[in-house]
Amino acid sequence: MLPLIKVGMPDRSKLMPMLENVLYSGMLAEGEAVYEFERRFAQHFGLDRAIAMSSGTAALHAALVLAGVNANDEVITTSMTAEPTNVVILQVGAIPVFADVDVNSGNLDPKDIERKITEKTKAIVVVHYAGIPVRLAEIAEIAKKHHIPLIEDCAHALGARYANRSIGCIGDFAIFSMQAIKHMTTVDGGILTFKDETLLRSAKKFRWFGLEKGIPRTEVDINSVGYKYNMHNVAATIGLAQLDVIDGLISRHISNGRYFDEHISKIPGLSVPFFDEVASPSYWLYTIFSDDSSNIEKLLSNIGVAANKLHRPNHYHSIFKPFAGVLPELEKYYQNMIHIPCGWWVSDEDRDRIVNALQRG
Ligand SMILES: Cc1ncc(COP(=O)(O)O)c(C=O)c1O
Repeated sequence: MLPLIKVGMPDRSKLMPMLENVLYSGMLAEGEAVYEFERRFAQHFGLDRAIAMSSGTAALHAALVLAGVNANDEVITTSMTAEPTNVVILQVGAIPVFADVDVNSGNLDPKDIERKITEKTKAIVVVHYAGIPVRLAEIAEIAKKHHIPLIEDCAHALGARYANRSIGCIGDFAIFSMQAIKHMTTVDGGILTFKDETLLRSAKKFRWFGLEKGIPRTEVDINSVGYKYNMHNVAATIGLAQLDVIDGLISRHISNGRYFDEHISKIPGLSVPFFDEVASPSYWLYTIFSDDSSNIEKLLSNIGVAANKLHRPNHYHSIFKPFAGVLPELEKYYQNMIHIPCGWWVSDEDRDRIVNALQRG
């Protein structure tokens, strides 16, 4: 079966010597490999800075706290995402306020974001779902107008671009996930980036119990609570090896995604995601819309290709039900959508097979 998602690892001959070096170096915890990975990741993806953390979830938690979100504040967010996006909002004691999505993309609808703003709104979290950038120009304008920090969850969108800039550069904060099945993995890991340089010290303390690195442990004073959210040298070493091959992998996702954009959009009864003209998705998954998405799942299964919805709208979960609200466009989107494989493991022959099967219907 051609899988919907797959773990990507650099070549064994390249990675194993690097791993052996770090594993027997006596320096396993956060150290030089992490700092080098941060420098190279930021440079590679055109970010102002990169703070390496243990997961994308940890990075999101940090973003909310650094944005000043406190208990009982409201955070405007999407339900159409993986659960971590919204679980962290509850973890800081804040209230998730779900805005509706655009039925043609699954991404947050800027107009509904603006409608949901109140004086209690302390952050807007957007998710570039499946690798498709949200309507960043409009959303950033709304955030600016209302003086609300914008947090970009780029967990699905490594390598995407918007208005000729790397994804993650427009919001006040952005996070990336390097969990096993993302474009790039460090087994588990995350990156936090932000515009305001003065937050650097707080961000580093946040990921290490509130302790400051470089001050002797017997002298350092914790004056704000932090967590054990740092990345270790072993994960960072995998990340360093990944950076040498990631462009090739991402460009294969993009090539497959553009191929599907062109060919699937022409198939009667099917449609494909809409995105801004200035957006370049990085197609972590490819999403198709049909009145009968379960039929697509069956017909692709018959040719050995996995297709499914992958995520559950978060407001269906008990913990989010009190905040669910009414999301008619999301309900329609979820009914009609189905994800198909689009990544580096999908060959030219695979993508032809997929398009032919969909054409035959
Ligand atoms: C949209 C989204 N945000 C955040 C996360 C959290 O990332 P991590 O698994 O690295 O904690 C994920 C991963 O599942 C995700 O898909």
